[in-house]
Amino acid sequence: MANETASLAESTESVLHIWGRKPLSGHVTISGAKNAALVLMAGALLCPEQCRLRNVPNLLDIQRMGQIVRALGVKLEQKGNTLEIDASHIGQSQAPYELVSQLRASFFAIGPILARLGIARVPLPGGCAIGARPVDLHVRGLRALGADVQIQHGVVRACITGGRRRLQGAKIYLDYPSVGATETLMMAATLAEGETTINNAAQEPEVVDLANFCRAMGAKIQGAGTKTIRIVGVSRLHTADYHIVPDRIEAGTFLVAGAMTQSQISLSPVIPDHLTATIAKLRAIGTQVVLESPNTLRVVPGPIEAVDIETQPYPGFPTDMQAQFMALLTLSNGNSVISETVFENRLRHVAELQRMGADIRVKGNIAVVRGVPMLSGAPVVATDLRASAALAIAGLAADGKTTVQGLHHLDRGYENLTGKLLALGAHIERVSVATSDKGSNGSTPSESSS
Ligand code: EPZ
Repeated sequence: MANETASLAESTESVLHIWGRKPLSGHVTISGAKNAALVLMAGALLCPEQCRLRNVPNLLDIQRMGQIVRALGVKLEQKGNTLEIDASHIGQSQAPYELVSQLRASFFAIGPILARLGIARVPLPGGCAIGARPVDLHVRGLRALGADVQIQHGVVRACITGGRRRLQGAKIYLDYPSVGATETLMMAATLAEGETTINNAAQEPEVVDLANFCRAMGAKIQGAGTKTIRIVGVSRLHTADYHIVPDRIEAGTFLVAGAMTQSQISLSPVIPDHLTATIAKLRAIGTQVVLESPNTLRVVPGPIEAVDIETQPYPGFPTDMQAQFMALLTLSNGNSVISETVFENRLRHVAELQRMGADIRVKGNIAVVRGVPMLSGAPVVATDLRASAALAIAGLAADGKTTVQGLHHLDRGYENLTGKLLALGAHIERVSVATSDKGSNGSTPSESSS
């Protein structure tokens, strides 16, 4: 036993120290949307020429998607926030398990690979911190488009059979408006023979951004952003140079940070229409959000009234903002009922907020948050991407010092959050600490989500 610690590899990870109750001020620049960038990188695989993606955020998930794209034999070059992807030649149809298991979003690549090569083998992404995250809707849709899809040994193998070279357009109905399934099937249909209709499609802005990128490459897509998307297949796409939309969830996160710390901060660029539900909920709570210019918002904090929240597919209240709003509502003047209807296990930040003095009771996928006058700083552990942001915001408002561990979650979805908060005047410090490392990067695949 004596040398047990010696056998554990020492490695460093970092933690975030936050000294709370310091008001913020100034302006924060919002990065490109993670959930658009990831799927547009997959979309570039549809094109047999080089494409350029601008305003790509520098995130762990983007780096991981880049590894997967390269593993497929595709050329990818990153220059700051611009990616150049040349998929003129896709070397192989199998995405590597160890990479896909760390990034669910990479499963979306099955559509483009199948459409280009006629065969695709992508490992099942598996569950993650927030839920089982099945891909049955993706699989059923690909079968509707004429692919033979088998799942063996944890790998989804899809191929175009019957001597045909292209997928066949079809009428598809999604039992649930899944973002990923809508994106996978829209991409696959761009190169199919004939017309495809996706009914009960997801309407998220990232779906619209993907459609706009594909249209820039010459795809024929109508109706993205509505429940019915129509795609008329073409035989070949061409190069495009595309600027990705700003990240509505990062913007929403900073709006909540301003509300929670009673700070007037401004943020841009944003597309206000992407934040309708978030802004409406903040106004119901008592925080005004003012449009300073067509792409700039300013937070004008006020009282924190208790409100109820139910997460829904877009344009409903976004599940990716649930944890951040729960942090805010821990300081409300009453009781708030928060129901998470999109994912089955996305309340794991409750335990950590309770460590900070929050009064929250959970039953199933419903959390009842009774407001308290003040949170107290404490050591907390992030469990998933948005929970980590919620804990950081809670630390900004709490009395005393909060230490947030599990920052690899934060780095998946927030570009330079520490630097952005420091620039707003937060008393925050990210430090490396030596830890006993039980996993390759301190996280296990089950912790990966996105
Ligand atoms: C996307 O995930 C986002 N990720 C998520 O963001 C976001 O929370 C989610 O959409 C909902 O808005 C990316 O875009 C990379 P879904 P996705 O398919 O596509 C069930 C973040 O924090 N479902 O709309 O995986 C599923 O289990 C991340 O940035 C099936 O049952 O979400 C879930 O309960 C987290 N079968 C619900 O649908 C399927 O085939 C919504 O999932 C697919 C999904």
